[in-house]
Amino acid sequence: MKRKIFAANWKLYKNPQETKKFFTEFLIPGTDSELYFFPPALCVEQALICTQGTRVQIGLQNISEYLEGAFTGENSAQTAKTMGCSAILVGHSERRTMFLETNEQIHKKVITAIVLNLKVMLCIGETLQERESGKTEVVLQQQLEIALKGVADCSDLMIAYEPVWAIGTGKTATPKLANDTHQFIFSWLQSKGWEKTPILYGGSVKPENSQELMNQEFISGFLVGGASLNPESFARICQSL
Ligand code: PGA
Repeated sequence: MKRKIFAANWKLYKNPQETKKFFTEFLIPGTDSELYFFPPALCVEQALICTQGTRVQIGLQNISEYLEGAFTGENSAQTAKTMGCSAILVGHSERRTMFLETNEQIHKKVITAIVLNLKVMLCIGETLQERESGKTEVVLQQQLEIALKGVADCSDLMIAYEPVWAIGTGKTATPKLANDTHQFIFSWLQSKGWEKTPILYGGSVKPENSQELMNQEFISGFLVGGASLNPESFARICQSL
């Protein structure tokens, strides 16, 4: 049976009070899926309190590659782990495009998280221009190869495929396009003996399209932005079987 994973990326939305309200209203689905929330760093503590004793796992949306030091404004994965976080989101396209994160930096963050035994949700994805010029596979392969260079153990790894043109735009990839691209990522993982690594889809996932996407062979779950901010709509997405 497919491992099913539902992850919420809250980006820079919600304060601790709103975080508390969300978890009061969010009904954790009764299935055996895995659930992750990536709230803004300042809401992590509240999210951990609200989800204590449940199977919900909390993580940071971004980490410093350094554990500590003179790095003003950064967040430490080590501190996140001490607080009770179990996962880290790395390489989101907003980090790549707006904060100019390179594949090399993403690689360092992946290694930092792995050293701390944190689960890594590595985001990859092509821009519209890259897709239209036929470069999707080359871009994805390069993102995977550089980010995961030297990584020997994939047990704590998840891949989130998020076509940049589908993020926050309302333009979801068609189930076929998403599945074909997931199959390409699967083949790459398989060539390393990592065929059990789950591949999540992200980009305008909503309750209206999540079931059809989940029906696709190579889609193991979702990384959800906008629709994860509402407890009812995210709970409906988490019902995709
Ligand atoms: P979206 O965002 O669901 O709002 O498109 C997904 C993401 O950025 O992870």
